[in-house]
Amino acid sequence: MAMRTFAVVVLFAVFLGVRIIAGGKEDNVPTTNAYCKIVWLLGIPCEQVNVAIVTQIKAMASYKLVLLAPKLIQANHTSGFGQTERVNFTMIPTSMILGCHLQLCFKLK
Ligand SMILES: *[C@@H]1O[C@H](CO)[C@@H](O)[C@H](O)[C@H]1NC(C)=O
Ligand SMILES: *[C@@H]1O[C@H](CO)[C@@H](O)[C@H](O)[C@H]1NC(C)=O
Repeated sequence: MAMRTFAVVVLFAVFLGVRIIAGGKEDNVPTTNAYCKIVWLLGIPCEQVNVAIVTQIKAMASYKLVLLAPKLIQANHTSGFGQTERVNFTMIPTSMILGCHLQLCFKLK
């Protein structure tokens, strides 16, 4: 389920035509039961990533926007099985290039 959600989010980025580098190091953070994934979006500032994610969340009935901040978006995702997971999108602008470091964390409720 988390992977499917992740795939949807990466699709948003592909939709935007940006290059993605997904890192695997931060997967399965041991201190929590959250599943996290790091994505580097090159050539697009975090402000635009933020707007794109919010637009997609609002367009999809299975997602509910919980909190919206410049560097953090929280949403609830309800799967087809009626299971809800919390999703965090944390954005950190990259300093050297025009880009955005996006961390996605999923936690089943
Ligand atoms: C999101 O899920 C949490 C936990 O299940 C719930 O407390 C909260 O009301 C939900 N928020 C929205 C906007 O659906
Ligand atoms: C989302 O971020 C909030 C605030 O930093 C944190 O309390 C919460 O545990 C995070 N949830 C997930 C699913 O990572």
